[in-house]
Amino acid sequence: MKILLLGKNGLLGREIEHAFANKGHDEFFALNHADLDITNRDALFLTLKDLNPDHVINAAAFTFVDECEIKKEFVMNVNGKSNGHLAEICSELGCHLTYFSTDYVFDGTKDGEYTEDDEPSPINVYGASKLLGEQLIQQKTDKFYIVRTSWLFGMHGRNFVTTMLDLAKKGEPIKVVDDQIGKPTYSHDLAGAVFDMIHDTVPPSGIYHLVNEHKTSWYHFAKKIFDATNSNNVNLVRVSSDSLDRAAPRPQNSALANTKLPKLRTHQEALNDYLHHLNII
Ligand SMILES: NC(=O)c1ccc[n+]([C@@H]2O[C@H](COP(=O)([O-])OP(=O)(O)OC[C@H]3O[C@@H](n4cnc5c(N)ncnc54)[C@H](OP(=O)(O)O)[C@@H]3O)[C@@H](O)[C@H]2O)c1
Repeated sequence: MKILLLGKNGLLGREIEHAFANKGHDEFFALNHADLDITNRDALFLTLKDLNPDHVINAAAFTFVDECEIKKEFVMNVNGKSNGHLAEICSELGCHLTYFSTDYVFDGTKDGEYTEDDEPSPINVYGASKLLGEQLIQQKTDKFYIVRTSWLFGMHGRNFVTTMLDLAKKGEPIKVVDDQIGKPTYSHDLAGAVFDMIHDTVPPSGIYHLVNEHKTSWYHFAKKIFDATNSNNVNLVRVSSDSLDRAAPRPQNSALANTKLPKLRTHQEALNDYLHHLNII
């Protein structure tokens, strides 16, 4: 299969390149932001026409959730409209599109986990822009996977786990919110699951949730990181989201239920694996 990855330098993009290159089944092309700006429709068309992939995986996005609040038009264009163009081009050229979306398309008020069929209702600009991407893709092509995931951590890029470990070195109290619930997900597991989805499971076009199992709060996730690394002297302080001065509101409960694909392992197992790979445990 001929695969084109967009956004190859991101946390997830790097992991996908790694997963697909390691398994070695495909003719694999990967582009970063400097190679191709996804907001440039003409460049998108020429690149796809030239490479003629069977499958495009788009891991490119603007992901700074608080910054999104002050760059609404820009973000709706990068995360939303560009994916509409991409879907249109994929449909015209007959290739399949995989797009990554987020738990932040939900408002967080559900009493329980969000399934693939629940109605999105984002409460911040980032979530709205990712939902626009979902909607345009569904309008413009019938060969797509929308893969919603959440709270990514992994080898390639700063993430909550590395932030916690860095803060611990400073020896100061670490404030972490305990009123946001979600499912931390290891980018390595997600990339492997996307590989399997495209090559083996090959489900019908649609929306899928791919997350590590077991929900937790950021506070309890931080506690698990420090427990696993025997960081007994860390002063972890639980705080409420209201006490943090952040531009973008976050959903209180954004735990995604994967009801359609093989389930990934638990985030606790994935975290241990990740810390092991970092040579920390
Ligand atoms: N991280 C999470 O917790 C999380 C959770 C749920 C869903 N997701 C979704 O998963 C996907 C991957 O996220 P990630 O965490 O890997 O993001 P990331 O680390 O921020 O990487 C995004 C990549 O997209 C590139 N990019 C930005 N604007 C672009 C443009 N106009 N044209 C081409 N490339 C562009 C960036 O390049 P530059 O840095 O050079 O601009 C960056 O390399 C995104 O769709 C995101 O919404 C992420």
